[in-house]
Amino acid sequence: MAFHRTVLVTGAASGIGAAIATRFLAENFSVVLLDVNAEGARAVAERSGRAAHAVVVQGDAGDERTARDAVAATEKRFGSVGVLVNNVGIELNATVVEQSREEWDRHLAVNLTSAFLFAKFCIPGMRDSGGGSIINISSVHAFFSWPRCAAYDATKAGLLGITRALAIDHGPEGIRVNAICPGYTRTPLLERWFAAMENGEQRVAQVHPLRRIGEPVDVANAVFFLASDQAAFITGTVLTVDGGMSAAGQ
Ligand SMILES: NC(=O)c1ccc[n+]([C@@H]2O[C@H](COP(=O)([O-])OP(=O)(O)OC[C@H]3O[C@@H](n4cnc5c(N)ncnc54)[C@H](O)[C@@H]3O)[C@@H](O)[C@H]2O)c1
Repeated sequence: MAFHRTVLVTGAASGIGAAIATRFLAENFSVVLLDVNAEGARAVAERSGRAAHAVVVQGDAGDERTARDAVAATEKRFGSVGVLVNNVGIELNATVVEQSREEWDRHLAVNLTSAFLFAKFCIPGMRDSGGGSIINISSVHAFFSWPRCAAYDATKAGLLGITRALAIDHGPEGIRVNAICPGYTRTPLLERWFAAMENGEQRVAQVHPLRRIGEPVDVANAVFFLASDQAAFITGTVLTVDGGMSAAGQ
């Protein structure tokens, strides 16, 4: 890989973010795990067996000072961030009539502004060291909606917009920027959603041509591919990792 083998993952204590951090640790990267849940992030690092190569930063990814300080601490310890994975996301289901302005703002801050902030603070270091790779974790909800997902879906569509914009602004600096749209993936976020449905997992699995929901490692593998030299000519694009669900029009 042409750039530094340092990755910063937001929302790394659980689910998809934990799988991404684990994958990069296994590939001998230095990994910064940013999460509000520092204990959970530390447990991910310990389980990997490579905790000496991991740094946990506790904080709110949507907060400007947290983002600035996390990137500065990473650069001080490991040099510039080579790979930024904007993974953090929350989903509080409601129609716009039900949803409070505070919850709407929270979705924007955590799911979308965090990607702006971490890109803003990582890109100068990437540029100075010859390049980097940014991967934004969007969702199939960028393409279609389910009931009571307005705020979440707006942020996930927004992530595809900022992915394209960053790719064209920073491609000439050797920085590639791509998005991944996971389908339904077995994580605490999805399990909270299934809890409100009868036979949730079985019903959702049936709408996938591959007849299963995704596992966090399915997304982590796609992230690793996009970060690697195997994807050297891929930027500004979207990789859907959904077991064929959206191809089936579901
Ligand atoms: N699970 C799915 O089916 C699915 C599908 C499509 C997209 N996604 C996206 O994948 C990403 C990860 O989702 P997941 O299912 O692993 O979620 P999760 O709820 O299992 O994990 C999210 C992590 O983010 C952390 N977090 C929450 N708010 C934070 C904040 N303000 N600052 C820092 N950390 C914070 C949590 O502590 C947790 O560790 C999200 O962007 C989500 O929208 C998930």
